[in-house]
Amino acid sequence: MCGIIGCTGVKCASEILYKGLEDLEYRGYDSAGIAVLEGGKIISVKKQGRVCALKRAAEQLGGTSGIGHTRWATHGRPSDENAHPHTYGAFSVVHNGIIENYAKLKEELIEEGHEFSSHTDSEVVVHLLAKYYSGDLKEAVLSAVRQLKGSFALCILCAGYEGFVAVKYRNPIIVGVGEGALFAASDMPALCGLAESVAVLKDGQIAFASEGKISLCDFYGRPAALTLSPIPPAARGARLGGFPHYMIKEINEIPAAVKNTVQAFAEEKCFSALSRAAKKRGGFGDIVLCGCGTAYHSALAAAYHAEELLKIPSRAETAGEFRYRNSATGPKTLFIAVSQSGETVDTVEAARAAKEAGAYVVAVTNVPYSALTGIAYMSVPVRAGTEVCVAATKSYCGQIAALALIIASLKGGSAYSRTLSALKGIEAGCAAAISDCAVESAARACASSAGVYFIGRGIDYPVALEGSLKLKEVSYVPGEGYPAGELKHGTIALIDGGTLTIAIMTERTLGEKTASAVEQIYSRGGRAGVVYAEGCAPPELLERAEFAVKVPSFASCLSPIISVIPLQLIAYRTAVILGRDPDKPRNLAKSVTVE
Ligand code: G6P
Repeated sequence: MCGIIGCTGVKCASEILYKGLEDLEYRGYDSAGIAVLEGGKIISVKKQGRVCALKRAAEQLGGTSGIGHTRWATHGRPSDENAHPHTYGAFSVVHNGIIENYAKLKEELIEEGHEFSSHTDSEVVVHLLAKYYSGDLKEAVLSAVRQLKGSFALCILCAGYEGFVAVKYRNPIIVGVGEGALFAASDMPALCGLAESVAVLKDGQIAFASEGKISLCDFYGRPAALTLSPIPPAARGARLGGFPHYMIKEINEIPAAVKNTVQAFAEEKCFSALSRAAKKRGGFGDIVLCGCGTAYHSALAAAYHAEELLKIPSRAETAGEFRYRNSATGPKTLFIAVSQSGETVDTVEAARAAKEAGAYVVAVTNVPYSALTGIAYMSVPVRAGTEVCVAATKSYCGQIAALALIIASLKGGSAYSRTLSALKGIEAGCAAAISDCAVESAARACASSAGVYFIGRGIDYPVALEGSLKLKEVSYVPGEGYPAGELKHGTIALIDGGTLTIAIMTERTLGEKTASAVEQIYSRGGRAGVVYAEGCAPPELLERAEFAVKVPSFASCLSPIISVIPLQLIAYRTAVILGRDPDKPRNLAKSVTVE
């Protein structure tokens, strides 16, 4: 959700910034821009479209200090003028976040004679800096940021100041120190290969980076200590390595993601930490799992499993709903926040709200240095490795494994050992599902359908939701995920020969029931395909289905790891057949750091 970068003390700032924007492009790709200091003056280029649209213009620049931005539009449509950096007077600014009071500030600034050139909320920042600047950069920055409401990570360039300023408030920014050079970026991978040591800024901190030194202060100018540490190995970026897209590469990495997550659970001694936490609270009275998008779907699967195994009221909620609802969350609640990035603002704020309500907050995330881990009492790592494709695949499977281990730890004893031994076979099961699943005819059927409905019962229902989300995200084929029994209560009105239904059937006891739902679809002239595990779908249904994809059988709490694989592969192949870019679907961004 917008990537920002800054550098100083380098040989060619534009080159470093351009490369950094490529690494940050997963955060948004509506437009991009760069501003550099050349001979004490600011020169800026910006363009609508992906980062590569900026290449030629960026090559004309040099500079030893500069800032860059790749945008996911919130206020103001994607265009050259709404692209960042915004430059006015002696300043140039890039912003990630939302300035919630921008309309009032803009009105006041216009009355004072400022002329705006974009429709963004961000542009007010550069005007405020210009307004408060009378030769003292620090004073201008302090006065400007104290006016802002909302969330903001900023990089600021000031003519005549050989360096940059980074500001953090509820959006991420990391500063880094390299050989004779200083950097800042929204995320760690963009700093790999540039910085040797890094520091994640805290909310309300400002970093002045100039002449080989970073000085930190708060919004009132009070100095703060800068604690640098080496770049964590988890921050390493990823390369395609021979695959045509990150999506298929990352699906192929599912076995390793699951294996590494299970290993991390043991290494980080999560079992004993969870048992201690439960004991300290006299046991948990309820479990709330929160996330957005794919993370919400893994949370939902885990909620089903938790309630069944622990017999404690357990539910999953989308984080954006939870945070604005007066729920009954309290000190007996175990609140599990699930997020690949650990940065999604709704999930981070939901975790904060749960903590304020007294809940015991656990973060399940793929990024160990994320905002979410800073809020949680305890972090359970997902070790899926860097996920580049906007659509989550391997991180979902890692989340399911981590959540199954959390639930089994709370049950204790034999449940934990049973889950561990089931997980031993899952790596091979995933590998088999990836190599054996013949999805081509399913993908062709999806590509030619007006709508695709995914249905499932029990643990297959959250998987149906995820299958539907994946297909929509990357191929733009419309559809929905439904509990198999719910389809007849409305959505069946949409079924005709142009629509396709995919039934997910990995629950032995529920096969007949889901089969009845498929019969109802056939009776209305609809088409259907099946993703099933041995013994979970009646043979007559398999014979009649347009396609039938078989997956290995696993314990219900782990089966989403396997049954999601053909659905991910179907979504991927459908996107490719339709000529979409599965890695960077339109209108989306991987980390959504605004509300
Ligand atoms: C965005 C992405 C989704 C992702 C969701 C949650 O909307 O497009 O693919 O599932 O954010 O991201 P998180 O990092 O919190 O798991």
